[in-house]
Amino acid sequence: PRTAALIPAAGSGTRLGRGPKAFVEVGGLSLLARSVACLSPYVDEVLVALPAGMALPDGVQAQPISGGDTRQASVLALLRATNADVVLIHDAARPFLPARVIREVAAAAWEVGAATAALPVADTLVQAKEGNDWGTLTPRESLWAVQTPQGFRRAALLAAHEAAQREGHAATDDAGLIARLGQRVALIPGDARLFKVTTPGDLALAEAVAAVWDK
Ligand code: C5P
Repeated sequence: PRTAALIPAAGSGTRLGRGPKAFVEVGGLSLLARSVACLSPYVDEVLVALPAGMALPDGVQAQPISGGDTRQASVLALLRATNADVVLIHDAARPFLPARVIREVAAAAWEVGAATAALPVADTLVQAKEGNDWGTLTPRESLWAVQTPQGFRRAALLAAHEAAQREGHAATDDAGLIARLGQRVALIPGDARLFKVTTPGDLALAEAVAAVWDK
């Protein structure tokens, strides 16, 4: 199948406080450039949704489009800009993509229809009560934390996004839009290095990973 990588990179990076997050550099390369470089060998084309008025960083080989006001709007714009059979959606904020995860998500996307990288939860989970007090323990067995990349047959994800838009249903996650329609989503074991760079502390972690990743 013809495969496209779609990278929503139009966020403002408010929590990080360093300007548009995809353009922040770790180990001398932007988060966006790292994501594109990891995905390029496995796909036929790469499309990136950028903040209004911004151009691709130098040296990034991809097709730029204008993002929307929300991640969901940016992904819908990306979906409308390709006619690939399979799409891999990946947050620019997750710059370290192991090849195994890309291959397994892409294969399952075509076979099952939808697939996402995800990690079994390792921590004990508790539902808080009255703000900051320990409430109820939540068994972590069978709980997974969802990452990207997420892979889909393009037509199925486009239909799910258009239904969500019609119904005014907001979502931060594409696989959730498929599951909401009762369709299968395969969970593919992800990787700790696929954490999302969100806060300044994550940036320190990303610098450390980059030093090993680039060796
Ligand atoms: O803010 P958060 O880290 O959850 O954003 C996840 C991804 O969605 C980021 O890569 C960000 O650039 C992208 N995004 C987007 N368009 C928006 C908001 C976020 O492409 N309007």
